[in-house]
Amino acid sequence: MKKLGTLTSGGDSPGMNAAVRAVVRTAASRGIDVIGFEDGYRGLLENRGRQLAARDVSDILDRGGTFLGSGRSDEFATPEGVQRAVTVCQERGLDGLVVIGGDGSLRGAHELETQGIPSVGVPGSIDNDLAGTDYCIGFDTALNNVISDVAKIRDTASAMDRVFVVEVMGRASGALAVHAGVACGADALVIPEVPADYDRLARDIVADEQRQKHHFIVIVAEGAAKAEDVAAKIGETTGHEARVSVLGYVQRGGSPSGLDRVLASRLGAAAVELLVSGDSDVMVGVLGEDVVTVPLQEATGSRPEIDAKLYELVATLAT
Ligand code: F6P
Repeated sequence: MKKLGTLTSGGDSPGMNAAVRAVVRTAASRGIDVIGFEDGYRGLLENRGRQLAARDVSDILDRGGTFLGSGRSDEFATPEGVQRAVTVCQERGLDGLVVIGGDGSLRGAHELETQGIPSVGVPGSIDNDLAGTDYCIGFDTALNNVISDVAKIRDTASAMDRVFVVEVMGRASGALAVHAGVACGADALVIPEVPADYDRLARDIVADEQRQKHHFIVIVAEGAAKAEDVAAKIGETTGHEARVSVLGYVQRGGSPSGLDRVLASRLGAAAVELLVSGDSDVMVGVLGEDVVTVPLQEATGSRPEIDAKLYELVATLAT
């Protein structure tokens, strides 16, 4: 192995920079050149890549976003787009590619693999929605962002005796909402994996009030419902005017947490080691304490199930 390419793709997630740094420096320690493509698959299609030496990734470990840029490319999703990307990889003399991103990005990596480009995926997504890994890079930082914002909302909810509906990201997954529910001490959750029970929600709000608990925080995953619709239902069923807070893109920004830096460094390094050993068409992930691999098709083929016990814990601890 002499030269490999890397790119960050899809919605950026904190820790992507740490992953690129690990790819570049692990490769450098083995005398392998790295080409970093800009703006995800778009940069690959347009052959916008530059050589990255060890010093080129100095001082990025603690930066959010991705210094390479990221994006979603409709063109790459077409057979012609994939062929163009393969041609660029061949012209560049790449022996392999490390793709850092979420499910769409890793599906793209599998497409390239089927066209002869050895590809390894590194899971980077605040949604934590890839199978075969406990955590994706960026999830922990996003969770910490939610924790810090909900703490502020709790202050005003408590001061003003209010019901708040807080909407968090996650695309079709409720993982971020469930973890946030436990970590923020939410009173109720609405997530895509569990049918919403608005009657129970109303009963819980009224019951809390009767026992002199006058504020109530509902965390809604964006894939389940819009916060304003949940607030409207609460209004209809309880007579309370619930306030809404959609946390939005602040969840995705900021310096990566310690856990995300460690995860990204381990997975970026492992991706290079795999390519060196001739392994590809896999995603690197972490299960418990172990770095593991899972076929790219498996990682993107199904959504990991929500931890039912964690979901139930929110209601148990809200009593
Ligand atoms: O996949 C990451 C994510 O932040 C989702 O949680 C969210 O639904 C989506 O990206 C937003 O996408 P975009 O950045 O294209 O608006």
